[in-house]
Amino acid sequence: MSKPKVFITRAIPEKGFEMVREFCDVDLWEGELPPSRDELLKHVQGVEGILSLLTDRIDGEVMDIAGEQLKVISNHAVGFDNIDVPAATVRKIPVGNTPDVLTDATADFSFALMMAAGRRLVEADRYVREGKWKTWGPMILLGTEMRDATLGLVGFGRIGKAMARRAMGFDMRVIYYDPSEKKPDATIKATSVDFETLLEESDFISLHTPLTPDTRHLIDAEALSKMKSSAVLINTSRGPVVDHEALYEALKSERIFAAALDVTEPEPLPMDSPLLTLKNLIIAPHIASASKVTRDKMSWMAAKNLISGLKEDRLPNCVNPQVYAK
Ligand code: DGY
Repeated sequence: MSKPKVFITRAIPEKGFEMVREFCDVDLWEGELPPSRDELLKHVQGVEGILSLLTDRIDGEVMDIAGEQLKVISNHAVGFDNIDVPAATVRKIPVGNTPDVLTDATADFSFALMMAAGRRLVEADRYVREGKWKTWGPMILLGTEMRDATLGLVGFGRIGKAMARRAMGFDMRVIYYDPSEKKPDATIKATSVDFETLLEESDFISLHTPLTPDTRHLIDAEALSKMKSSAVLINTSRGPVVDHEALYEALKSERIFAAALDVTEPEPLPMDSPLLTLKNLIIAPHIASASKVTRDKMSWMAAKNLISGLKEDRLPNCVNPQVYAK
């Protein structure tokens, strides 16, 4: 019996790849960069499954060019703003994502960024390498402490809650803003507040919200103007949640103390971006979930979603379960 044909838009960890290869006839895009739009449209033709990354725009055109036999789209990420989910839903194509397995890795990295930006770790490293370290001094590179500081979480889903748990260990006060919170967790000491209160009261603000029309540029000039001048902003969600021009102005003028971004708009950030000139900003290349263990689990979960869809079984993690409504 012939195996179902699938397109994988870039190499994924072995664990998931081997699973897919056993079950499918795989067309793997081997480039270091994502396939161009033309290449993507060419390679999806006639496939039954697409395993995509967050760098691939999978919209109605891709689905139509793939053809009516397309049974499943499996995204190798928890976020799925790169996929036109309503377009998949009307075509009855289930879309899979990889929640849970990356929660701790992402919260660890967000916390690392928070501490690094607050305590000026990257700036300190540069200070040493640039030969500026002449002696110990009581006023050199002073930063912000965690203990008793208020952490404001925008988004209180899996990752937001994991941040709150970590913050409790640092004796921080935790507040959060999440209009869509469904499950309060009694084991976490955190208070729900409105957005304005969060901006005004937080010493650290960490963003853990999906990118939607409502959250695009949620952190704009007005939001930044309400933050404390000592505030530290962390974004490991999606780049467009923060208005970069406004952030540049706020950091340059020291309206806020520091920021750290793991995600930018666009990605990669162009090398002539003014953000790169700021010393109170840390930038990482979208690696919050990048631990070996987590990426293995993500690939395994993406493979499971893909194979389930090909077998016409329910995806273990489906973002549009409406496709199963009779
Ligand atoms: C995701 O999964 O959405 C992250 O941004 C990358 O792991």
